[in-house]
Amino acid sequence: MAGPDGPPLRRGPASPTLHWPGKPTPEQVLAEARQIQPRFRLAERWGAPEVEAGQLYWGENLHVAAHLLQAWRGRVDLVYIDPPFGLQRALRRRWGAHPADPVAYQDRWPEGLAGYLQMLYPRLVLIRELLSDSGSLYVHLGPQVAPYVRVLLDELFGPGTFRNEIIWRRDAAGKGGKRASPQWPRNTESILFYTKRPKGYHFTQLTRPLSPEQAAAYRLKEPDGRRFRAVQLGNYTEASIRRLEAQGRIYVSPTGKRYKKYYLDEARATIDGLWTDLPGFGTRSAAKEHLGYPGQKPEALLERILLASSRPGDVVADLFAGTGTTLVVAQRLGRRWLGCDLSPLALQACRRRLSALDGAALEIWWEEAPAPCGVEGERAPVGVEARREGRAVRLRLVGLPQGPGAPAGGPGDGPPLVEGWAVDGEMAGVFRPLWHTFGPVRVQDPPLAREAVVPLPVQAQGVRVQVADGAGRLYRFAARLGELPAGPGWAALVQVAHD
Ligand SMILES: C[S@@+](CC[C@H](N)C(=O)[O-])C[C@H]1O[C@@H](n2cnc3c(N)ncnc32)[C@H](O)[C@@H]1O
Repeated sequence: MAGPDGPPLRRGPASPTLHWPGKPTPEQVLAEARQIQPRFRLAERWGAPEVEAGQLYWGENLHVAAHLLQAWRGRVDLVYIDPPFGLQRALRRRWGAHPADPVAYQDRWPEGLAGYLQMLYPRLVLIRELLSDSGSLYVHLGPQVAPYVRVLLDELFGPGTFRNEIIWRRDAAGKGGKRASPQWPRNTESILFYTKRPKGYHFTQLTRPLSPEQAAAYRLKEPDGRRFRAVQLGNYTEASIRRLEAQGRIYVSPTGKRYKKYYLDEARATIDGLWTDLPGFGTRSAAKEHLGYPGQKPEALLERILLASSRPGDVVADLFAGTGTTLVVAQRLGRRWLGCDLSPLALQACRRRLSALDGAALEIWWEEAPAPCGVEGERAPVGVEARREGRAVRLRLVGLPQGPGAPAGGPGDGPPLVEGWAVDGEMAGVFRPLWHTFGPVRVQDPPLAREAVVPLPVQAQGVRVQVADGAGRLYRFAARLGELPAGPGWAALVQVAHD
């Protein structure tokens, strides 16, 4: 058995593999992906037109990955995924633990673990195809499924491609109910790190300031008070020792033995695979970035991964994007990005977060086939009215509870009727918001704007409004400008079930 720094274990033809009924081969997955022939259409475009946009797909990620292969095969530098953890339950978006909290996504698998692996395996096969030769994959998992996925990734990626299992301690143990649990607290998650090839991948080693315990080892002091520690010289040549001496970097002990000096003010610790310094979100976290979305990860975690395994301009993808944490961090760090999620709530969280970033632009592609995503045909929970005011249009939502203390939804009292709404000056085609608002997530956040005056471009023929409800469902309304009064009255926009 090799030691921790010894040669990697060789995987020969008899390497163990994981089996379950119905497991396809990678070749079958790729052949099936070619058969799917999914169709997507650009349905929304947020941000300034001249800015290069990240691409977010609203659809089934197996179809999205199959579609992306056409343009991105071998071109993605970093993939991070944070799939469901196989918990066999529905996960809800929290509006203060309200009974009506909407389901964000399902984490139930008919055949249990086998069903879960049957879901994940083909997606991993396609993701491997998307990765560039120098690319990296991070798969974020709960402890129940991580060991199985580790075996699958070994099978798929082959010898020498496993880099680390990062253990992330999500929160300090001992809070609330966990204290009474008859087992060790389950407060860790695994992030499996693989590279497409055993060599030639990109990795930047990251450091952080020393912990107080590490700093305490710097006990010796220069006459000016500068702290250092003395380390045995090892196999330095006499010439190098003389050079260090000339630089004042050799310490001679009272017994005359020579040591190398390491100064505290220059010292940093290398970040290793045990991450205990990045707090996650409890269910009622007050963290500003937390949206109450189940499984949302902190930006600091993604920042660490992106800084280590990608460079500015690289392409980063997350096909289980949730609230878009990876995409937000990629945007901030100057990476290009591709994202995907199936959940309308996830998409709405991505609109909120990415539209708030300076200089960001966002394309949203909706799946048309084989599993279409789109606006609701059902009656919207509110109406929209408008009138013209010169080259602008004044719009208002009607049907929202009125007055102080009215249960408008949101923090504390369940999902809101309207989570956000946006206005475009085109009647059809790609929806390009000219104005938008989002409702509060925390009690202290400003309320949803119920009324707006939106200046329209000269060529505008009409006005279109997209409303998202508390479950992320989309409703659209439209009117021609000619149908809107120019005086004090209001006209109702017509709800439409298409773009
Ligand atoms: C744990 S959450 C990801 C959270 C994300 N890392 C964040 O920070 O917000 C998992 C996401 O995977 C999405 N998902 C699950 N199955 C999917 C599928 N087949 N296609 C697309 N998205 C899927 C869910 O809707 C959910 O948003």
